[in-house]
Amino acid sequence: MLTTESIQKIDREIAKYPADQKQSAVMAALAIAQEELGWLPSEAIESVADYLGIPPMAAYEVASFYNMYDLKPVGRHKLTVCTNLPCMLSGGVDAAEYLKKKLGIGFNETTPDGRFTLKEGECMGACGDAPVMLVNNRHMCASMLPEQIDKLLEELK
Ligand code: FES
Repeated sequence: MLTTESIQKIDREIAKYPADQKQSAVMAALAIAQEELGWLPSEAIESVADYLGIPPMAAYEVASFYNMYDLKPVGRHKLTVCTNLPCMLSGGVDAAEYLKKKLGIGFNETTPDGRFTLKEGECMGACGDAPVMLVNNRHMCASMLPEQIDKLLEELK
């Protein structure tokens, strides 16, 4: 199911670990599969497990635990807002509510035009910069007050 290019990338990750520990590359391998496919269908998770020589359930446990992995298709831009306690006390929930209203969707939903998916996230280690959000699992945005959120949404159009 994975392309040769993805397999080569996974091989590079496997090479970072001792030969008998290739299962340690499971997080990286899942991320590579997701990058290729846009999300992680169960066949992709099984392919990764198969390639690493681990039971499919072991890969599924990892994929379903971390919210950077998408087990369903997502929009072009995935916005993950931290609502854990420190952020909640510093505007994280307000930022999420603002986004819900602005985009017309709730958590785990995608706008009808397929542009945005909204997710609720766990602590991103940037509590002091709350409210914080991640764009497409990679780009961290801090101090996301309504004005900054408007600006970001405009940039992502
Ligand atoms: S609680 Fe939100 S970044 Fe830590």
